[in-house]
Amino acid sequence: MSFFNRLLLQCRSGFEKEAAAEITDQCATIGVYGYCTLNQGDGFLLFHVQQEGDAERAIREVNFSQLIFIRQWLVCGECQVLERDDRVSQIEAVISDFPSCADLWVEYPDTTEGRELATFARKFSSALAQRLRKTGCLKKEKPNKALRLVLFTLTGSDIFVGYSAVANSAPWPLGIPRLKFPKKAPSRSTLKLEEAWHWFIPKAEWDLRLAHGSTAVDLGAAPGGWTWQLVQRSMFVTAVDNGPMQEALMESGQVKHVLEDAYKFLPEKPVNLMVCDVADKPIKTAEMAAYWVINGYCEEAIFNLKLPMKQRYTEVVSCFNHIAETFMKAGLAYELSAKHLYHDREEITCLLRIL
Ligand SMILES: C[S@@+](CC[C@H](N)C(=O)[O-])C[C@H]1O[C@@H](n2cnc3c(N)ncnc32)[C@H](O)[C@@H]1O
Repeated sequence: MSFFNRLLLQCRSGFEKEAAAEITDQCATIGVYGYCTLNQGDGFLLFHVQQEGDAERAIREVNFSQLIFIRQWLVCGECQVLERDDRVSQIEAVISDFPSCADLWVEYPDTTEGRELATFARKFSSALAQRLRKTGCLKKEKPNKALRLVLFTLTGSDIFVGYSAVANSAPWPLGIPRLKFPKKAPSRSTLKLEEAWHWFIPKAEWDLRLAHGSTAVDLGAAPGGWTWQLVQRSMFVTAVDNGPMQEALMESGQVKHVLEDAYKFLPEKPVNLMVCDVADKPIKTAEMAAYWVINGYCEEAIFNLKLPMKQRYTEVVSCFNHIAETFMKAGLAYELSAKHLYHDREEITCLLRIL
């Protein structure tokens, strides 16, 4: 079988260095070492491993849900340069010694240039999948064991061919859940909170953890995009902000607007969920979220850490170390999930709760 010596990692354009630092750190925890090659703005990078078998080991043993800046990944060899006629047969030849895969995705960089390949990707994926099913190259497998054949195209002929583990990769092509902007929502930020739920809370738990009739505090709520999402779940929301909330949202009768400082406000009674989208120092927000969760002011917290600084990865690590120390001192085990969402810009979104 071919020696797959690379991981191809997708991220938001401009965040390749953060993704490189992250994969280097995460792979080191399982004893996989290598080096990254990247171009700033490409929306992807390569991590070259030193030892045969290490790239495959990484996509199985590094927990994808722990990755923050990496939206999607695959294991692959070098970029294939295909002749433009009969690309399907050439791909068939390339994958002849691949392990068996259950399905196929054709992906591309999430950049202005890359997105021009979307139509090609859709058509090529359907033609190729049809052929591979006929010839038996794509076979149904149990989802927890299944591999997915992935083609990452840079042009119609320059293509990385590889695979990922279905259960340990993003459940959406390019790691981007397709969400529709709700016309009545007061701001585009609304999609950040909805996307966070898709990443962090299994759909089967939504009715329990985002339950109708439950309570929430939205810190830095105005004009109300996040509050709007909570109201759609029939939650009762205290919206904390000195700025104005959208009038239509206030008419729902489910929102109480409090004009206070987000970092000083505490609810009289514990709430189910605290969310925070205030632009301030990341460490200040991380400390505040940990304080709320540890002291039982909320069951879980979803918050943004704004990252306008150069050393974004280092900043995130130091915030997470701080949270770890605080929980250790309190003697509590916790879950911390974090992702650089498609709808995030210079920020990441996190979920924190006691286990
Ligand atoms: C990015 S906006 C929030 C957008 C909101 N999540 C939405 O979806 O519409 C940040 C908000 O935080 C508020 N803010 C900033 N510092 C604050 C503080 N210390 N206390 C309360 N609100 C604050 C600002 O007034 C602003 O409305």
